[in-house]
Amino acid sequence: MKKRLFSGIQPSGDVHIGNYLGAIKNWVRLIDQYDCLFCIVDYHAITIEYDPKEMQRRIFNAAAVNIAAGLDPEKCTIFVQSHVPEHTELAWIFNTITPIGHLERMTQFKDKSKQHRENINAGLFTYPVLQTADILLYKGEVVPIGEDQVQHVELSREIARKFNMRYGEIFPEPQEILSEAPRIMGLDGKTKMSKSLGNYISLVESPESIWKKLSTAVTDENRKRRTDPGNPDICNLFTLHKHFSKKEQIERINIVCRTAEIGCIECKKILSENMVEHLTPICLKYERLIKNTDSLVNILQTGAKRCRRMAGETMIEVKKKMGLV
Ligand code: TYM
Repeated sequence: MKKRLFSGIQPSGDVHIGNYLGAIKNWVRLIDQYDCLFCIVDYHAITIEYDPKEMQRRIFNAAAVNIAAGLDPEKCTIFVQSHVPEHTELAWIFNTITPIGHLERMTQFKDKSKQHRENINAGLFTYPVLQTADILLYKGEVVPIGEDQVQHVELSREIARKFNMRYGEIFPEPQEILSEAPRIMGLDGKTKMSKSLGNYISLVESPESIWKKLSTAVTDENRKRRTDPGNPDICNLFTLHKHFSKKEQIERINIVCRTAEIGCIECKKILSENMVEHLTPICLKYERLIKNTDSLVNILQTGAKRCRRMAGETMIEVKKKMGLV
């Protein structure tokens, strides 16, 4: 029996290279090793303002991009959170054992409350409890995520432990798995790459747009003139080179940037070419998939069917332990 892996992504806009390097690449790498469940978490996405007319397209988009990036539906289960009602049912139960103080500590809640001052709703606050329910409903043992989600997975361990102590042993304590790039910075070089901040390159960005965005991206800010030596160690784009460029190119840039033999524009051109080369197959596959919504519906329905069965079994166990039967 393979261990179960669970992870999720919000359908809240373009899937970007931060999502890809921080999480999706790891999902693809681990697909044969674990029994993998990947969830498009629409109930999480509605905790901030959104346009209901856009949501269906965003869900299809998230499914198509992830499959194009390598999530083979023959090898894993892909589904939409709201298709399995037990996620919110279990979240309610977990709400009753989660101290408010733990939720107040969550940095993502603090950040999002600052970003969305006009809509600090209870769902935003209890978001990590729903995330815990996502994982534990399927007894997920490993959770590949970017660094920004580590605190939420830590909380899921605490909730699992608390439930097991209070009502009896059911849940594993999930462990996070981080990629080599757990925190990709945005093109401004200052904040984390994020859908909501608009500082990203999408996984299906056109070559022209990749170049346009890279050409204005912030590099080593101490390098004011072409003749100034640069420092790759503090250059955000050098980090991206490490993930998209060839080994010899990375080694060369690491030297010639420091001696000012290469300028930022030339360095960005190399990165842009490599990124386009890497992302083109994903774009082409995405374009084929997004045209065929019937096939996407089929994949998501098959996924939800399997998940509803597993979720139903867990809820019977939970309710029995809690005396709710
Ligand atoms: P979301 O949709 O914000 O992001 C999806 C995944 O991408 C990672 N990520 C990044 N990694 C590196 N650098 C970045 N700049 C970057 N931006 C995003 C995220 O860490 C995440 O792994 N709450 C989650 C979704 C979720 C979930 C779950 C995840 C809901 N339930 C259960 C795991 C298990 C979220 O908002 O991810």
